[in-house]
Amino acid sequence: MLRSLAQSLRCAGWRQLSLSHVRRVSEVPLTAEHYNVTRGDYAKVSELDLQEFTSILGSEGVITDPHDVGPYNVDWLRIVRGQSSVVLRPRTTGQVSKILSHCNQRRLAVVPQGGNTGLVGGSNPVFDEIVLSTSLMNQVISLDETAGILVCQSGCVLEQLDGMLAEKGLMMPLDLGAKGSCQIGGNVSTNAGGLRLLRYGSLRGNVLGVEAVLADGTVMDCLSTMRKDNTGYDLKQLFVGGEGTLGVITALSILTPPKPRSVNVAYMGCNDFEQVKRVYTTAKRMLGEVLSAVEFLDSHCQRVVEQYCHLPNPISPSPFYALVETSGSNDEHDKEKLNSFLEYIMDEGIIQDGTVATDLTKVKGLWEQRERIAEALLLDGVVYKYDVSLPLSVYYNLVEIIRERVKDVARCTVGYGHVGDGNLHLNVVGDTHSTDLLNLIEPFLFDWTASHKGSISAEHGLGFKKAQYIYHSKSSIAVDFMKNIKKLFDSNNILNPYKTLP
Ligand code: FAD
Ligand code: MLT
Ligand code: ZN
Repeated sequence: MLRSLAQSLRCAGWRQLSLSHVRRVSEVPLTAEHYNVTRGDYAKVSELDLQEFTSILGSEGVITDPHDVGPYNVDWLRIVRGQSSVVLRPRTTGQVSKILSHCNQRRLAVVPQGGNTGLVGGSNPVFDEIVLSTSLMNQVISLDETAGILVCQSGCVLEQLDGMLAEKGLMMPLDLGAKGSCQIGGNVSTNAGGLRLLRYGSLRGNVLGVEAVLADGTVMDCLSTMRKDNTGYDLKQLFVGGEGTLGVITALSILTPPKPRSVNVAYMGCNDFEQVKRVYTTAKRMLGEVLSAVEFLDSHCQRVVEQYCHLPNPISPSPFYALVETSGSNDEHDKEKLNSFLEYIMDEGIIQDGTVATDLTKVKGLWEQRERIAEALLLDGVVYKYDVSLPLSVYYNLVEIIRERVKDVARCTVGYGHVGDGNLHLNVVGDTHSTDLLNLIEPFLFDWTASHKGSISAEHGLGFKKAQYIYHSKSSIAVDFMKNIKKLFDSNNILNPYKTLP
């Protein structure tokens, strides 16, 4: 198990880290017991089923050795653990169709899994659901360099796609800390946001087409490669953010913008969150079309990143830090804009200290301060992770309120996130899995978010952990329609049960 954990950590860029602090897989409580879930009325995988899967995939596509199946049962955060005994690894849409058709007839439950970097327990079984891994579906199908449109299978790893596109002067329209492991199908299924949504918009706008296999094996071909297509309802959007509950995405087409020639990053220290907000509003006004990211972290994040990732603070200690990135095509012009912005915010006393990176290595170095918070927190203890969107007027208040509520039980409470998108990551770290700690946070945090008209899931989705809280962000009429759509697409409820819908 430890070997597999080490592998998955390496994939997410954890190369230099000691693993001694992270929980072993066997220490993660079983989801079914810990959350007291009742198993649905599904069949159990039989010897005959395994023979059928082997005839579809060959023996290399069917994993049953418990040692090899283990990592697929556990999430990246080491919070949920399922009890599956079978992982299927198809290579083609046809194979996915045959697998699902068989599972539907036999009423066998299935969990689609991409890179398994999801943060809400959506990609892991709860009981003995079959894991359908897309890891071998990693072929690029076509690239239209003129239009900037990529068509690929869903198991392509985000960073590998981005590397391939860079050679053509293009890039993926999203970027996130898990890029080394997460797959584009997983990104689309969670409608992942990430670090550059501010500039390139959400996947809902960037994904042009989706090919998905429905629960009964039907192949739904919505793989358009046109930017404009107004023929009927836009069914592909149901799979974007569908969290594997409506179908398995097997291929997709996506816009790939030109790779910017010039990228600069400013990393700044602020005295309070009001100043972070002023950095953001000033950046929007003064940097305009070259602004590509505005992120923030508090001093507690900086401390864990320094402690666990051994990244020294690049500036003098401050209660808050803001990261602003510009991306453009004219280096001189972009630098000039960034310099006037920095001069202005320094003169106005909006920031107390700052540093700027203009070469790639230094740019990456500054980004690490922000991108590696999630992994540093994981090394600190058991992480209770929240991902809300809130109006900026009350954005950081939630961190202060929760910090006060849990102060006697938690190791630390931190706030960071995509401030430019109104998306707050609030994480509470505890020593162990603690129901007392969880009860101090939930449902209070969701009630508070809903009362301020925020969303309880800005980007990670509902998955297993947040499914029952959907009513905090959606009306019961909307949820009833969602349930009807689910029935229409998956009448036996075999696809990712216990997830997304209550
Ligand atoms: P998985 O974790 O394998 O699956 C996620 C969900 O999608 C599951 O419900 C699964 O059933 C479903 N699924 C996966 N593949 C398919 C498919 N082909 N068809 C149908 N359903 C499928 N998320 C953000 O939004 N923004 C961030 O900035 C961000 N940063 C992260 C940083 C780190 C260090 C980590 C660990 C995670 C981060 N995440 C972030 C969360 C996560 O990486 C994203 O949600 C990512 O998009 C998941 O991709 P994956 O391939 O790992 O999917
Ligand atoms: C991030 O923005 O870093 C990710 O969404 C992961 C996290 O929330 O920790
Ligand atoms: Zn995020």
